[in-house]
Amino acid sequence: MLSPLYIANYKIDIPVFLAPMVGITDHPFRSQVASFGANYMVCEMQECNHLFSQADNALRRGDFVQENSLLSAIQLVGNDPDLMAQSAQYHQRNGAQIIDINFGCPAKKVVNGYGGSALMQTPELSKKIIQAVIAAVDIPVTIKMRLGWNWDNLNGAEFALMAEQCGVKLISVHGRTRCQKFKGKADWEKIRTIKQAISVPVIANGDINNEQQALQCLTQSQADGIMIGRGSCGRPWFIQQLSSFLTNQPYTLPTLEQRYQAIRKHLRDMVSYYGQARENFSIRLFRKHWVWYFNDLIETGLISNNSQWRRSLHKLNTQYDVEKQLESYETFAQKI
Ligand SMILES: Cc1cc2nc3c(=O)[nH]c(=O)nc-3n(C[C@H](O)[C@H](O)[C@H](O)COP(=O)(O)O)c2cc1C
Repeated sequence: MLSPLYIANYKIDIPVFLAPMVGITDHPFRSQVASFGANYMVCEMQECNHLFSQADNALRRGDFVQENSLLSAIQLVGNDPDLMAQSAQYHQRNGAQIIDINFGCPAKKVVNGYGGSALMQTPELSKKIIQAVIAAVDIPVTIKMRLGWNWDNLNGAEFALMAEQCGVKLISVHGRTRCQKFKGKADWEKIRTIKQAISVPVIANGDINNEQQALQCLTQSQADGIMIGRGSCGRPWFIQQLSSFLTNQPYTLPTLEQRYQAIRKHLRDMVSYYGQARENFSIRLFRKHWVWYFNDLIETGLISNNSQWRRSLHKLNTQYDVEKQLESYETFAQKI
């Protein structure tokens, strides 16, 4: 079902990508996904004016995961062609091998600041941004976009063609309009219209949460690959699971013990990555992952629900406390 694809000269053997998700796919999470086996991933979006703010959190978004020969790809968002070009150069100097431009983010801040998916309404400005970035670097440039602004403005195919003519090497499409934000359902058939309009590889994205949906998305979109966002939350192995399924390779899901180990590793990585001095910050960031891990454990029937225990987790503030709580749950889970 899936064949290798190229981003310029870079070969991606199995095109099942991890989607960038700001606040989720940080370095510790991407390392976690990489440790289970990943093919390609892009850092969380980086605002192009980060060069001037030098904020620690913003700069961290550009930390690449150096595992399994993963390519170092960064995503930029912004609406100023010069700033975008300067930012692209900065990241190339810092080791980026691919620059992705965000034309898909519907977040208010980005849209009001006139970036992300808002730019699909102004293809002329978008063209200038793409041309400026491509001229500024000598590494491949890709884009991530939506179907259009709303159902009356499905300009995805024209937009993608414009980007391809500028020299973009791959296009990922979230099968929703900007106005849908994350509501409704991703329309994989509509992605096919975009695929048919261009020759560079197209990656279909949106609402792929199991193997059958992955297959259905590929069939309906005729895309060259798929990209997984929320489906990987609490399941860092999901990319590898889908990659195996779509290439007819056997795959065994992690056991309960392996999942507990993964949760522990993720927790430790978060604390060491953000720094022991910001332990409380790391634990707060970790809480959402924790909930996703446990929701998955419960949904797959590996453990039973214990809402009282789950609620108590939100009061924990140190790595030690969380580890102790995890231990108590392991003991508890073994008894059921
Ligand atoms: C919390 C969150 C943060 C996101 N951040 C980004 C981002 O930084 N860049 C981007 O292109 N898309 C971002 N997205 C969109 C996802 O990459 C993806 O297109 C979307 O979630 C649909 O895919 P899914 O149904 O597999 O999650 C974000 C989505 C979520 C839920």
